[in-house]
Amino acid sequence: MRLFSTQRHNADPAPVAVATAAARPESEFAHDLLAGLAAQPRSISPKYFYDARGSALFDQICELPEYYPTRTELQILQTHASEIAACIGPRAELVEFGAGSLRKVRLLLDAMDRPARYLPIDISGEHLLQSVARLQQAYSGLDVFPVVADYTRDLILPHTSVGAGRRVGFFPGSTIGNFSPAQALHFLRLAGRVLRGGALLLGADLVKEPALLHAAYNDAQGVTAAFNLNVLARANRELGADFDLSAFAHSAFYNAPEQRIEMHLMSRRSQRIRVCGQTFDFAEGDSLHTENSHKFTIDSLRHLAVAAGFSPGPVWTDANHLFSLHWLQAPT
Ligand code: AVJ
Repeated sequence: MRLFSTQRHNADPAPVAVATAAARPESEFAHDLLAGLAAQPRSISPKYFYDARGSALFDQICELPEYYPTRTELQILQTHASEIAACIGPRAELVEFGAGSLRKVRLLLDAMDRPARYLPIDISGEHLLQSVARLQQAYSGLDVFPVVADYTRDLILPHTSVGAGRRVGFFPGSTIGNFSPAQALHFLRLAGRVLRGGALLLGADLVKEPALLHAAYNDAQGVTAAFNLNVLARANRELGADFDLSAFAHSAFYNAPEQRIEMHLMSRRSQRIRVCGQTFDFAEGDSLHTENSHKFTIDSLRHLAVAAGFSPGPVWTDANHLFSLHWLQAPT
């Protein structure tokens, strides 16, 4: 297994690096957190959820009874695997954005005609490499090329392997919903460039009954709350911040006009936080905005794809129209 990394800093520093991280305000996480705490409203990018602990918590979210997106998308993939594989074509090179635990791709790999190579991209290096090791056990003949990178910053990929068919992107889970509409457009334009002549298989969560959305982001076991709070725990671990996790409450609600779930961490009391030598005051009820999860209609997603230069093809959905999977032809 070869490893391709476009990052200057390791996304998951080794324990030694963690011990010295308090003196590392130059890290991208430190920079973004300090800027996000100084801004009004306060926010931090959801990409910082995904250290090793956060990636493990996200895998737990995917198993929750309330969190319908994962099992619904898996079911769509399973039901339409041969049709999707026919769209992908022979000897394709599959590039997955935000690959996570590599569960969904197995359904594609099983149905595909002699995949040439699989390139999973993920920001969480340790988690990715563990997942790749597991995948290689089951797919020993497959050429896997993991890429530890932040695809929201740059999309640098190796050249297509010799003799490969077309390159097909796989962006499941509705992770595209984490972007603002402008960021989503920007990402799709970049993706169109690296997938030129190929296609993108894109998963998008659909607008629905707010009560269902609310339950999916406010699970009874509190796993989503722990996932949300983990960004503060990570700041404590890596940056020597002094967030008291019990002084912040998980808050997730559907913002109907913006068609998105918002996640926040709400200060339960007035408090002062120290991060990298700077102090930040929170009043009771002040929030740190940690995530947007935009929901789409089939049409709104297709319009976005067209604006980014893609030609929309087939769309697959489940019987309850909870989730959608789109075949988008990349520009030539
Ligand atoms: C990985 C961005 C698709 O928005 O549903 C799950 C992340 N946040 N529960 C989503 C998430 C809270 C997830 N995405």
